Amino acid sequence: MARIPDAVIDEIREKVNIVDIVGQYVQLKKAGKNYSGLCPFHNEKTPSFSVAEDKQFYHCFGCGRGGNVFSFLQEIDGISFPEAVAKVADFEQIPLAAEYREVSGPAENSETRQLIALHEKAQELYHHMLMNTAIGEAALAYLHERGLDDETIAEFGIGFAPNQRQFLEQVFQNEGFDSELYEASGLFLKRDDGSFADRFYQRIMFPIRDPQGKTIAFSGRFFKTEAFPGEDQPKYLNSPETLLFNKRMVLFNFDKARGTIRKESTVFLFEGFMDVIAAWRAGVKNGIASMGTSLTQQQVNAMERLATTVVICYDGDNAGIEATQRGIALLKENSRLKIDIARLPEGLDPDEYVQKYGGEAFAQLAEHGRETVFSFQLDYYRSKFNLANENDQLLYVETMLKELTQVDSLIQQDHYLTQLATEFHLQRETLQQQLATLKQQARHLQKTPDRAYEVPYEAPPEHAPKVAPITTRPLTQGEKAEQQLLYRLFNEPRLLYQLEQAQVHFLHEDYEEIYRLFKEYYEQKGEFEVAGFVDYLDNPEIQNKVITIVTLNLPQESTEKEIQVLLRVFEKTRLADKINEKVILQQEAGRIKNTQLELELAIEIINLRKQLKQTDIF
Ligand code: CTP
Ligand code: MN
Repeated sequence: MARIPDAVIDEIREKVNIVDIVGQYVQLKKAGKNYSGLCPFHNEKTPSFSVAEDKQFYHCFGCGRGGNVFSFLQEIDGISFPEAVAKVADFEQIPLAAEYREVSGPAENSETRQLIALHEKAQELYHHMLMNTAIGEAALAYLHERGLDDETIAEFGIGFAPNQRQFLEQVFQNEGFDSELYEASGLFLKRDDGSFADRFYQRIMFPIRDPQGKTIAFSGRFFKTEAFPGEDQPKYLNSPETLLFNKRMVLFNFDKARGTIRKESTVFLFEGFMDVIAAWRAGVKNGIASMGTSLTQQQVNAMERLATTVVICYDGDNAGIEATQRGIALLKENSRLKIDIARLPEGLDPDEYVQKYGGEAFAQLAEHGRETVFSFQLDYYRSKFNLANENDQLLYVETMLKELTQVDSLIQQDHYLTQLATEFHLQRETLQQQLATLKQQARHLQKTPDRAYEVPYEAPPEHAPKVAPITTRPLTQGEKAEQQLLYRLFNEPRLLYQLEQAQVHFLHEDYEEIYRLFKEYYEQKGEFEVAGFVDYLDNPEIQNKVITIVTLNLPQESTEKEIQVLLRVFEKTRLADKINEKVILQQEAGRIKNTQLELELAIEIINLRKQLKQTDIF
């Protein structure tokens, strides 16, 4: 399929009215200059989903999703960008050449398409070897023994790669596949003499699929036999990165899990493929796993688009518990997902648990046996301190109080305070006071030190729902200012000249990048239009940020004073960050009794504070 030219995309987007498309899925009512309705992406009873006809944009104040007409269709139908463009074209009866359509057409033979065909063929072959041949017999028996029935094996397309280095290659040659594709596919290793050898052999093959369900890579689990013990073989071998496969983007089973994830607003995160499959058999069909690596921002975004809750269900052993702790930190930092933990007893992994206690028990645990992050951490930190020692006890309590500041529910806070006080024979009031102090400090950290300036930042409009939005990470004052400045720029591109003269640099890389892309886009098009800009961006993280910015609610026009204030916030934030850095260094110098260094740092800090004061004109 050929890439659809920007001009064609623009034309289609400009001809359609987003209200008509969204109206096919959502019952919309006019409310002021916008339309509103029940959000199709999350469960709600009062409408928080809004479509702005003037901006050709939709946004949900409840779940935070938003975008233009193409992103709406991609999200709701689970289709690719070109498919969404084609769908709008058909809706508006705008002719679109066949070469821009994903299905059939003369341009079928793009490299991507051929590589997918190669993978689909390989998947079929491996599956056939497993199910129907004597070579696959032992592996099949092994899978049966592990509780996988034929139906599940077929559902996941599992196969077997025989212990032969020329297996795939021979079949592919007979099929007439172009040997130039072999290298690009990652399914082969190229020998010095230019011939090809199969990468995967003597392995149980798990197909890795893209969100459309197409096989784009494999993970092969080594199958040990007496004849081939393969001591030096890694347990799992993955396809290398190819044109099709980027392991930072892919989530195992995302294609099949997607529907249930959306329906239940919940996604289960597992460590291994076998765990995802075991959970599936137990009826937990919204399970996914990353490719043996820690989660990336792209993967978190994909989860966040469909779910409001993530349940971490890692192995019950030590490694799994450490991985859970890391996962919590990562998800807290990079998403707004509510995090629950499903902890498994006896060091079992989910698959072993299903084997031992049955699917029913696992489904029960997944549904009713979850705990909060805090409850998990009570135990986690317990193992990090020697609680027989009084000093350690106090450190433990302090650590837990710090974590408790992040618990939103007052009822839970209350409950845990009592629990800690009772266990360690401490005054409940003392703990409560300490918690209040810590909360204040936490709040303080999220802001820049002085709060003399107040950036005008408006609350959502009247028709926004009263329901609580999913917990949002509070933005720092600096980040708020960055978003607000970009919002102004999007709506009043002429501000660019002023910003360029002031040689503005944003505080965070992402916003600096958006600024750079804005300039690039604006230069190319000579005008700025948000809906087009979103298509121009190809990084989903950046896209999300832009959508957040676009859907801010600010007064109609900027004022000169506002822009000045925003720029000063940048400056202040930079100084404040620097001061914080130095303060930490100074404390450290004090701790190691380096008086000279401590003194030098103190002077630097005093000077920086003076500078900070001077940026204040209020
Ligand atoms: N993994 C990997 N390379 C390895 C080991 C593990 O990429 N050498 C990844 C795989 O994605 C695997 C996940 O880490 O699915 C979890 O590993 P592990 O817990 O060892 O796998 P299980 O799913 O428990 O596999 P099995 O039950 O078959 O031993
Ligand atoms: Mn296992």
